[in-house]
Amino acid sequence: MNALTFPPDFLWGTATSSYQIEGAVKEDGRGPSIWDDFCRLKDAIQDGSDGGVACDHYHRYREDVALMKQLGLKAYRFSIAWPRILPAGRGALNPKGLAFYDRLVDELLAAGIRPFVTLYHWDLPSALNALGGWTTRDSAGWFADYAAVVVHALGDRVKDWITLNEPWCSAYLGYEFGMHAPGHQNKDLASRAGHYLLLAHALGMQAIRAAGDAHTRVGITLNFEPHLPATDSEADRQAAAQAFDWQYEGFAEPILTGAYSQRMLDRMAGAVDIRSGDLALIAARNDFIGVNCYSAVLMSAARGKVYDDDPEFTRMGWAVRPAGLHAILMRLHHATRGRIPLYVTENGASFADEVTNGRVHDERRIAYLRAHFAAAHQAIQDGADLRGFFVWSLMDNFEWSFGYQQFFGVVRVDYATQQRLIKDSGYYLRDVIAANAVV
Ligand code: FCB
Repeated sequence: MNALTFPPDFLWGTATSSYQIEGAVKEDGRGPSIWDDFCRLKDAIQDGSDGGVACDHYHRYREDVALMKQLGLKAYRFSIAWPRILPAGRGALNPKGLAFYDRLVDELLAAGIRPFVTLYHWDLPSALNALGGWTTRDSAGWFADYAAVVVHALGDRVKDWITLNEPWCSAYLGYEFGMHAPGHQNKDLASRAGHYLLLAHALGMQAIRAAGDAHTRVGITLNFEPHLPATDSEADRQAAAQAFDWQYEGFAEPILTGAYSQRMLDRMAGAVDIRSGDLALIAARNDFIGVNCYSAVLMSAARGKVYDDDPEFTRMGWAVRPAGLHAILMRLHHATRGRIPLYVTENGASFADEVTNGRVHDERRIAYLRAHFAAAHQAIQDGADLRGFFVWSLMDNFEWSFGYQQFFGVVRVDYATQQRLIKDSGYYLRDVIAANAVV
């Protein structure tokens, strides 16, 4: 057998986020978030659903941690709902909300699973949205204050912190395309949100480090859809290398270099008050960078973006291109001169599943994961300092504007009964973790 073996301490895990799994949105003093509000808008969510119950993880977290243990996970990435901790976004603390994460962290540690905690995975308290949300400069300070509260409470046990999940989506899906909460369609608001999210990350890192200890590590999770050359020709390579990469140039580049590209500055022109000193703050060193990558775009010199020769699509309509994951890991490896550890903080696939005789034979999801694990392995072979891989997702959940019609889990959730069922991909992941190799 020629298995692709990973480094000894490689951290295998799964990822989720608060609003997508917790439910219990009105319980124990949680305040409303922009996603509660957004789901009430007509036609915002494809199946008219919301995260009100979701996977009921708030009540079933013990059972869910037991599942993680059964899968042999070494780590679990989850997010904290800001409105559970500070129902109005700032000011009064809600001890019951904090107590939930306290119990969850203890349960994970007792199961030998390392918690990787995201502080913001899109559920902004509605009260802060009423004050302008991410489009106001104050938001950076609100986030830092909230981060400090959480790290004071959990930092004795949680050492790995992610400030923001995919700020590109928060800014542009939320404020320019109207596809995500708070649902605006305004380019200038979006540009502003993008810059203030970066500032929030910077001030958040400072606050987390101040509240943490010598073992505290903090980074950010960014989403990428890399450009790959459509063919091996020099012209196509150039086309891929030179295409405007909005996600990279909007976030990774300012963080890693302390400057926006000219194209990004042009895009933001006139909308954002970038003050002197902002970019120096934003370029503060991260202890790691989290990479979310599901797909890639093919670029052709002659035809631009190429859509017509895609080998396979997932249920999301995303092309399956494991080479994209390898490409972004190598790009970040070179951009950081290998000095910042990388984690794949999300990768996975939605396909329609069927239950037959109590099993889910999700061969396509297994093939997707296998190919992406192999791409990650190749990046390590090629020198990337990749430390771990979190599969999205532990279980099927509320997929934002797609509602409950997308299925990313390696565990199936029957929403009528809340029964969990490990899919074949879950058993596959368990085998990979046990072997620490692509099997
Ligand atoms: C990412 C999000 C995550 C999930 C996956 C499919 O953009 O971070 O919450 O929706 O996509």
